[in-house]
Amino acid sequence: MLIKIRRGWELPESAATPEAVVMGRRGALGTGAALAGAALLSPGLAGTALAQAAMRNPRFQPGRDVTPEGDATNYNNFYEFGGSKSVASAAARLKVNPWSVKFDGLVSQPREIGLEDLLKQVRLEERVLRHRCVEAWAMTVPWTGFPMSELIRLAAPRPDAKFVVFETATQRDTMPGLRQAWYPWPYTDGVTVEEARNELAFVATGMYGKPLPPQNGAPIRALFPWKYGFKAPKSIVRVTFQAERPVGYWEKLQASEYGFWANVNPEVAHPRWSQASERLLGSNERVPTRIYNGYGEFVAPLYANMQNERIWY
Ligand code: MTE
Repeated sequence: MLIKIRRGWELPESAATPEAVVMGRRGALGTGAALAGAALLSPGLAGTALAQAAMRNPRFQPGRDVTPEGDATNYNNFYEFGGSKSVASAAARLKVNPWSVKFDGLVSQPREIGLEDLLKQVRLEERVLRHRCVEAWAMTVPWTGFPMSELIRLAAPRPDAKFVVFETATQRDTMPGLRQAWYPWPYTDGVTVEEARNELAFVATGMYGKPLPPQNGAPIRALFPWKYGFKAPKSIVRVTFQAERPVGYWEKLQASEYGFWANVNPEVAHPRWSQASERLLGSNERVPTRIYNGYGEFVAPLYANMQNERIWY
């Protein structure tokens, strides 16, 4: 008998929702909650990072309630730790100390930099940003981190570098997902250098005023809030600059469903489901999805001359 077993990425989001979320856990945090405080990072990095106060950047007004922390940290995609949304306990084994990030490819000087050293060269801030998964769930999170343009500056790409690729950790001893050989490990994804330099692109090292928990991509992850969440690699270990457009993890798996640009657009359905609305983690409220996830004023000019490109998924 032939049994078709659906793999994680083939499941519609509705089929993968854990009961606790379906039942609706409401939290107390509102948009105005004062969450900034000290920027706490991984315990081993605390000496450096604790000294930096992360002030909330008022340019980024989410227009929505902040998602309760328990929902944002217990409903995740992190396939290295398994295909379910409940990866928090498995991800607790992630080893984050020591951590370093390699800069290579088309850079003036390839190098590897320790995270502690890197963090001494940037200024942390807090941004409350909307985060919208291609599976049509969304959350609103106070992230601590620094502008992606700062990471690009530190990496010092050459002028012929057009794309930047983020490669994420592969820890064979802590990540059971790596044994699933049909996935194209390591998880990577990339954007144009111009996109990475956009004011909205962010590197997160914390959330809710605390270090990033492992399941959300400790100790350092990318955020491109106008794109679907799969363009937000977690636990980054390498940043590579290149002239050719990269093919990321999801595009390698299913190019007809996950493309390079992956900009949010409610009018362009995923081949298997609508993108017109999204479910807010925590309240389970369904709200209309907005083009560029509501961040068009920051990013629409990037795509002004790309009518012929498949820029929506
Ligand atoms: N990064 C790595 N290394 N592995 C992953 O499986 N999943 C992506 C992205 N980054 C993923 C990843 C997807 S599909 C989404 S929607 C977001 O992380 C989810 O981020 P969150 O769990 O913090 O909400």
